[in-house]
Amino acid sequence: MCGIAGYIGKKEAQNFLLDALKRLEYRGYDSAGVAVLSDDAILKCIKSVGKICVLEEKLNSNNLSGKSGIAHTRWATHGFPSEKNAHPHGDCKEEIFVVHNGIIENYKKLKEDLEKSGHKFCSETDTEVISHLIESHFKGNLEEAVLNSLVHIKGAYAIAVIAKYDPAKIVVAKKSSPLIIGIGVGENFIASDASAVIGYTDQIVYLEDDELGIITADDYHIISTISNNCVQREHCKIKQDASEIQKEGYEHFIFKEIFEGPEVVKNSFRGRIVDGEGLVKLGGLDVLNQDQIRNINRIIIIACGTANYAGRVGEYMLEEYAGIPVEVEIASEFRYRKPIIDAQTVVIAISQSGETADTLASVQEAKRKGALVLGIVNTVGSTIARETHAGVYNHAGPEISVASTKAFISQIVVLSLLTVYLGRTRDMSFVIGKRITDEIKKLPDLMTRVLKSSNEVEKLAKKYSNYRNFFFLGRKYNYPIACEGALKLKEVASLIHAEGYAGGEMKHGPIAMIDKNFPCFFIAPSDSVYEKMWSNIEEVKARDGKVIAIATEGNEDIKSLADDVIYIPKTLEMLTPLLTAIPLHLFAAYVGIELGLDIDKPRNLAKSVTVE
Ligand code: M6R
Repeated sequence: MCGIAGYIGKKEAQNFLLDALKRLEYRGYDSAGVAVLSDDAILKCIKSVGKICVLEEKLNSNNLSGKSGIAHTRWATHGFPSEKNAHPHGDCKEEIFVVHNGIIENYKKLKEDLEKSGHKFCSETDTEVISHLIESHFKGNLEEAVLNSLVHIKGAYAIAVIAKYDPAKIVVAKKSSPLIIGIGVGENFIASDASAVIGYTDQIVYLEDDELGIITADDYHIISTISNNCVQREHCKIKQDASEIQKEGYEHFIFKEIFEGPEVVKNSFRGRIVDGEGLVKLGGLDVLNQDQIRNINRIIIIACGTANYAGRVGEYMLEEYAGIPVEVEIASEFRYRKPIIDAQTVVIAISQSGETADTLASVQEAKRKGALVLGIVNTVGSTIARETHAGVYNHAGPEISVASTKAFISQIVVLSLLTVYLGRTRDMSFVIGKRITDEIKKLPDLMTRVLKSSNEVEKLAKKYSNYRNFFFLGRKYNYPIACEGALKLKEVASLIHAEGYAGGEMKHGPIAMIDKNFPCFFIAPSDSVYEKMWSNIEEVKARDGKVIAIATEGNEDIKSLADDVIYIPKTLEMLTPLLTAIPLHLFAAYVGIELGLDIDKPRNLAKSVTVE
């Protein structure tokens, strides 16, 4: 979490820095700050608590003039969100400033030592030790001071450093947190990810772990912090265009992203389905040969949050149609236990951002154990995309709202494609392969039909927004969707408590909570478990619970039981999650609006969780 940015060039640094912070705000928004070095070498820093708009107001009345600077948007780890804990952090004389994304694990000991030698700290953060360490090593050359400081630091960091007495450069360094350098003409940019530089340059360089960069207006150099040797790195061209990160008429990114669903699905399967053959081509998996695919004896899916729920839908698909045993693991658990992995185990990491620390660490652990590790990643060029042996991109486009919606949809589409891809090389018939791929192609139209009922969902949100507890219940393919519906409501309408349960599990405890104040969403399309869901609805009604059902068009019976019904069109059972998730995503967003919340940036969250 936390976003960092830097600029050095011929223009006013503040303009890029503010713009970059707005684009990186999804990484955290507890506080923000900017430090700019003026033409007459005066280093000034301005910080504020809360979102970037607060910092922007402050900067409007205290303009920071200067052609180089660094900036930060924070997701608090050490120390309360306050101005003194906001970055950039200065040294004793405020002649060196640092912005940092990551966690310095040994900061307590470093702080004690630095305090003993006379350094005065102003914040409770781990980051401030970096500024004082650099101060203690500074003899006029900033990169030397940073290099000598990094030797003492344990933990994760992406840092950018600026110094009054070595003004023509910004020094950056990285270990386990992302950092890119944007290459301009007569100007260079620094950011946590490429989204911050779109529209400023399309040429970027990824800094790798244990590397330090020296950035000037006209040039940059990378050196290894281990060998001190120069590193040559090719530029990458970024393809996104700036319009992809605009709201395009929507008031909130979350609505834009939910309504993009049909297009996202098309982008996820475009060019990947072989028409009429019931086959799928996934270019990113070309490294696998047919024998390798036939010999897979187990798949382990690792992911966090919403991506984990997509993985659980994938588990059911892959087991039912590709005949491969699948386990879905929470990445933060996988990395610390002793996973049993052999050479025929395939590990699949799913991540929208491609930067989630727990998922990344699990990828590295699985590689260490000898597994073939594949990625299903949305962000092109992200760390997980680069760390995995091979993978499939989602092509969902940038997802800005902190709550993941369109990426979730595309993750499920990619998993359905993967099911056919692996299944057809094993024992899936042409008929089944064709049935699934034909149905995937119909999804954009079916999703558009569901989105047309958004007004109905909005009415339900108004009706139910005063309730404080919800259950979401589903079976089989829609059990993970129940969990996703509950997560989204907790996240976006953060004043509400919600739980997702398997329909059959409710009677083993949670049913004790049911009364007229406890609405339950039942995800009950007409599928192989519909009769069972019907019984579960009866159980809730018998206890005076309120029922909102998601059912298949044409099911009039359910109206006799449910208080409210949202309809979805018919599709293959394994693809119903792509339709049932839409009303649940919309419901969470509309309830958030009813409660007057910032639905794109819910409290206490960050989009990309790059710390443990
Ligand atoms: O970027 P990732 O897909 O790896 O992120 C994983 C989770 O942090 C993420 O899905 C989170 O649960 C979302 N905020 C949920 O909407």
